[in-house]
Amino acid sequence: MDIKLNLNTKDFSGKDLIVVSAFQKTVEAKGKKKETTEVVNTHWSKELKEAFLAIKSSKNYKASLGERYFFALQDGTEVCVLGLGDKKALDLEKIRKEFANFYKAVSSKYADVSVAFDGFVKGSKEDSLKAIVESLLMTAYSFDTYLAKKSNPTLKTVTFDSAEKGTSKKKFQAAIDEATTVTSAINFARDLVNEPPNVLRSTEYAKRIKKDVESIKGVKCKILGNKELKKEKMNLFLSVNAGSAYEAQLVHLTYTPKKVTKNTKHIAFVGKGLVFDTGGYSLKPGGSMVNMKFDMAGSATVYAAFKAAAEMGLNVKMTCILGMTDNAVNSHATMPDAIVKARNGKTVEILNTDAEGRLVMADCLDYACDLKPDALIDSATLTGACLIALGTEVCGLMGNDQKLQDKLLKSAKNADEYMWQLPVIPEWHKDMKSNIADLKNIGGSRFGGTAKAAAFLSEFIKNDVAWAHLDIAGVGDSQSHLPYCPSKGASGLVIRSLVDFLKNS
Ligand code: BES
Ligand code: MN
Ligand code: ZN
Repeated sequence: MDIKLNLNTKDFSGKDLIVVSAFQKTVEAKGKKKETTEVVNTHWSKELKEAFLAIKSSKNYKASLGERYFFALQDGTEVCVLGLGDKKALDLEKIRKEFANFYKAVSSKYADVSVAFDGFVKGSKEDSLKAIVESLLMTAYSFDTYLAKKSNPTLKTVTFDSAEKGTSKKKFQAAIDEATTVTSAINFARDLVNEPPNVLRSTEYAKRIKKDVESIKGVKCKILGNKELKKEKMNLFLSVNAGSAYEAQLVHLTYTPKKVTKNTKHIAFVGKGLVFDTGGYSLKPGGSMVNMKFDMAGSATVYAAFKAAAEMGLNVKMTCILGMTDNAVNSHATMPDAIVKARNGKTVEILNTDAEGRLVMADCLDYACDLKPDALIDSATLTGACLIALGTEVCGLMGNDQKLQDKLLKSAKNADEYMWQLPVIPEWHKDMKSNIADLKNIGGSRFGGTAKAAAFLSEFIKNDVAWAHLDIAGVGDSQSHLPYCPSKGASGLVIRSLVDFLKNS
């Protein structure tokens, strides 16, 4: 889909369909609230208003949020009125949702659509434009790699028309470019997460990332296989890979911006890249095992944020560590009760081989702390307990540094994504201690499982690094409440929050 701009114009550039906004006005009448049927829009041309009023049924149109009304102008051009409800209650997320629903309603019917943009502004013009383009490009995503019939939407061009004077073409284009860069990274991550486990082996995953960064300026890529991981003493990571037919892969990416000064921040990411999680010897029951191809979503999420930020040329140093393996069973697979020494020297009693993500993350976090970043953020589909605590719609946040966590919460708010901090109390740190090893990989009960996993991870943070942990077990896929996400499959959520965080770093 092409996104175009047509500024300082009174004409509509779309050949097939024009989209205009309308708001619903609520007026007080005799002390009671009464809804008027009056369509409020100061941005409509006289021609448009007349054509609308000439149609009898338009009187019944209320412009409530999401209510669409189609009619035609005299020259045959079709118009879609997109109802946005109460103007005061409008926000960017509502705009995203309405454009996602709009896309679904028209993408198989019209090829060339223009948006009368002036009527869709809430707050900053550039932010509004960015939100609409984000929504359209996220909604247009489909995973059709394995379908004989590929999706081929009729909609090919969306042009944003603006009649207002004093608009900056440069700023508008920058907003479109940013939305395009971020959503391509989101859709790239979605593709990786949706890829089946018989295709996306650890080795294939690493290759795809290596190939993708080749064209990004300032990015370097190093891949560690089993031999190198052994040399690094990453035995926890290797213990998860023990039952696999494929090597573990640690992908180490760095991005260096054009100008580095002593004030340039260094942000490090670590992502869980379990290309499939059977549970290992602590085997998952069949029903719970399905969809465990998405257990690499944490790594795809941080990679996408890294990719987008590097492509935008943000002035921040970045490191991205992706820990890739499957968690499979064969005669070499790690057995429950095994005691394994971590990269940082601590011993871990592995009581449940299905609590594998924290083992991979532990060694990767310790590795990342060696680089002494200003902040370390990890993202993982770490615990089923996160779905119990926060539902499937909210990302869990934990960490050792309140300022860093506050910044992430702020970024999630800026991106209109749900994120909620969980406490990590001393009792849960204690619960992760073993009698016969320094640590054990599961707590004494199921309760508080998400934060207990974070308590375990915190044992691998050193050099006083400010660290935050994102549990995306719930939000990683199937966000059927968000019209710009596929109702089944990878969501691509949290990436926009992380990009916002990087922009403000
Ligand atoms: N990848 C899973 C977590 C998960 C489960 C994500 C369901 C999304 C949906 C993780 O490796 C896991 O199996 N965790 C265990 C931990 C337990 C053994 C302490 C879990 O959540 O059951
Ligand atoms: Mn598991
Ligand atoms: Zn897992």
